[in-house]
Amino acid sequence: MTPAASPAALPRCDRPVLVTGAAGFVGSHLCERLIERGHTVIALDDFSTGHADHLKALRRHTRLQFVRHDIAQPLPEGLPACGAIFNLACPASPAHYQRHPVATMLTSTVGTWRLLELARGSGAVFLQASTSEVYGDPQVHPQHESYWGHANPIGPRSCYDEGKRAAEALCYAYQREHGLSVRVARLFNCYGPRLRPGDGRVVSNFIVQALAGRPLTVYGDGRQTRSFCYVSDTVRALLALMDSDWSQPVNIGNPAEHTVLELADRVRALTGSDSPLVFRPLPADDPVRRRPDIGTARSVLHWRPEVALDEGLALTIEYLRERAEPTLAVLHADWHAAPELVRGRTLQAVNRQD
Ligand SMILES: NC(=O)c1ccc[n+]([C@@H]2O[C@H](COP(=O)([O-])OP(=O)(O)OC[C@H]3O[C@@H](n4cnc5c(N)ncnc54)[C@H](O)[C@@H]3O)[C@@H](O)[C@H]2O)c1
Repeated sequence: MTPAASPAALPRCDRPVLVTGAAGFVGSHLCERLIERGHTVIALDDFSTGHADHLKALRRHTRLQFVRHDIAQPLPEGLPACGAIFNLACPASPAHYQRHPVATMLTSTVGTWRLLELARGSGAVFLQASTSEVYGDPQVHPQHESYWGHANPIGPRSCYDEGKRAAEALCYAYQREHGLSVRVARLFNCYGPRLRPGDGRVVSNFIVQALAGRPLTVYGDGRQTRSFCYVSDTVRALLALMDSDWSQPVNIGNPAEHTVLELADRVRALTGSDSPLVFRPLPADDPVRRRPDIGTARSVLHWRPEVALDEGLALTIEYLRERAEPTLAVLHADWHAAPELVRGRTLQAVNRQD
C-alpha cells in the first residue's frame, strides 16, 4: 500500500468537530478530550446503544451541541460546516448488532456514505472508526494493516464485519474520486468506564458477573486470545491519527495478548470474587486469536498504549461496581426501545448547550 498524505486536521481546525456515536462508550470519552482541547463539538447519536448519561459531564458546556439523529437517515439541515468528522456511530457489541443486523449494516454503509458526503461538502477530514473485525477470524498473527482478512460474508457477524469493510471501501472511494482526506482507525477490543453491563462484551460481562457473585461465562474453552486497550489510550490514538497526515488504515489496540481464561482470573482476583467459571459453546465465527501489530501506530503516530491491564481493569471495576445493577435494568429497557429510534426518522436537537 502506498501511504497517501493529506493535510493534518485537528491542529488547524477552528471549525466545529462532528462526533457521531457521541453518547457511546468511546465517543463520550472522545467528546470530553475534544472539549478539553478547546474544540467546539457537535455530538450526534440516536441513543440506540449509547446513553445521555455518558455526556453528563458536558451537558452544560457552551462548546457542545447535541443532535439526536440516526445517521442512516438523511442528515438534518443546518448542521454547521465541520472541519473534522469522527464517525463512531455503530453498535459495537455482538449482542447488539446481531439483534439488529439490518440497521447495523445500514449504519455502516448508508450512514457512512451520508457523512462522507457531508465531509465532501464542507471540506472536512473524515475519520472512520473501523475494527479488528475487518480481519474476520484471522489466519495471520499478529494482524498487520496489510492483511486482507478472513471474514465470513454471510455469517451472524457479517452485518458488522462486512458493514465495516464496506465503510472502509467507501472512505477510499471518496479519497480516490473526490480527493477527500480520510483516516481509518482499526480499533481492537477497548474497555474502560462506560462499558455497559449486559451488552455482551467479555470485560464487562466478567466484571458484572464477578461483582454479583455469579459464575463467569466462558465461551469455548477460554484459550482464545484477545488484546485489551484501555479507553484513554484508544482516544489518544484517535486524536493522534486525526492530528496526523496519515491516510492509510492504522491498527489501534494493545498488543499484549491474553487468553479469556487469564482475563477471568484477573477479574476474579481484582474483584475478590471466587465465582466459578461456566463454559458455553463458542459462538459461530468467533475469532480464535486477536492481536494487533501496532508498528504503524508506533512509527507514524508515535503512539503506544500506556495503561496496564490491571490498572485499567481496576478503574472499570470501580465504575461498574457503582452502576452494575441499575444500569442493567436501563440497558434492557433501552434496547427494546431502540428499534423505534433506528426506524424513527426524527431529528431532535435535544440540547443546544449555550
Ligand atoms: N469498543 C470497542 O472495543 C471497539 C472495537 C472496535 C471498533 N469499535 C468501533 O468504535 C465505535 C464506538 O464503539 P463503542 O464501543 O463506543 O460502541 P457503543 O455501542 O458504546 O457506541 C456506539 C454509539 O453509536 C450510536 N449509534 C449506533 N447506531 C447509530 C446510528 N445509526 N446513528 C447514530 N448513532 C448511532 C449508539 O447509540 C452509541 O452511542 C463503533 O463504530 C465501533 O464499531 C469499538
